[in-house]
Amino acid sequence: MSKQVILYFSNTGHTKAVAEKIAAVTGAQLVPIQAEQPYTAADLDYNNPTSRTSLETHDDTSRPGIVAPDKRLIAQADTVYLGSPIWWGQVPHVINTLLETGYFRCKDVRQFCTSGETPIDKSTAKLTTDYPAINWGPSHRFTSAITGQEVEAWLKQGNQ
Ligand SMILES: Cc1cc2nc3c(=O)[nH]c(=O)nc-3n(C[C@H](O)[C@H](O)[C@H](O)COP(=O)(O)O)c2cc1C
Repeated sequence: MSKQVILYFSNTGHTKAVAEKIAAVTGAQLVPIQAEQPYTAADLDYNNPTSRTSLETHDDTSRPGIVAPDKRLIAQADTVYLGSPIWWGQVPHVINTLLETGYFRCKDVRQFCTSGETPIDKSTAKLTTDYPAINWGPSHRFTSAITGQEVEAWLKQGNQ
């Protein structure tokens, strides 16, 4: 049986809820991605140009520390579902830190996100350009109205 894992980064619970729904449909194991230094409400304030997320996100070289994920878990997985919020149109740099561990080379990775309104496309385009050694499947933005049928339709896209 194929092994699947869902790695997700979530601070206010939206991406976590979506990840749980994907797990319910796929049976994949859920693994939260944790920042070494958790993000506080003040850190997440996008109206403050000097908040942590404002400074990090606008510095393309920023790579916030993360709690190292289980390398074996990722090595054994045939498919990795990778979820995050969208911050200023892109994935948070925590995701870059994760991808630059090198654990994902030649893996099949399916990106998903939540956001206020921004579509996923630009973040997918940047990830596929920045990490060409990863086999990126179709990505998808989910809302809190996520249904099992929506997840199944997304999974089928990868089998075409
Ligand atoms: C720092 C920051 C930047 C954000 N930038 C965007 C954005 O560019 N577009 C958008 O639609 N939503 C944006 N959002 C909203 C989040 O993408 C949205 O609330 C997401 O569902 C949060 O996921 P989480 O609850 O899993 O942390 C931003 C939120 C934060 C905290």
